[in-house]
Amino acid sequence: MKIQTFLLAGGLAAAAPLAAQAQSADALYVRSLAANCSNCHGTSGRAVATSAVPALAGMPREYMLRQLQAFRDGSRPATVMHQITKGFSPTQLEQIAGYFAAQPK
Ligand code: HEC
Repeated sequence: MKIQTFLLAGGLAAAAPLAAQAQSADALYVRSLAANCSNCHGTSGRAVATSAVPALAGMPREYMLRQLQAFRDGSRPATVMHQITKGFSPTQLEQIAGYFAAQPK
């Protein structure tokens, strides 16, 4: 009985770091998707003050998602964004919009 309790507790303790790792792997994945945007929109979506390209940090999720979908389906004309958004799945665009919405401006 004591050994079973010990094994159970040991198993739970060993599983906890795995769950934390899975969560941070997801976060890292979404962050790496968003990193594709930093060349033009600034690191973490914070563009420099004089930039002609808009900052993405803190942009409302729904607004950004609508723009990304419109670039992707061609209903919003663009110079580069129509091509960039075609490189991501609709789910990835949702993840990217969620990431930038959560970034401080
Ligand atoms: C090569 C430079 C470049 C990259 C990389 C880039 N963008 Fe853009 N982005 C632009 C430009 C330029 C515009 C203005 C529209 C156009 O001409 O394409 C724009 C416009 C936008 C807008 C519209 C902003 C508004 O105020 O309506 C959003 C949203 C956006 N980009 C998101 C992204 C996201 C998300 C990524 C990464 C997946 C990304 N961009 C990557 C250059 C870039």
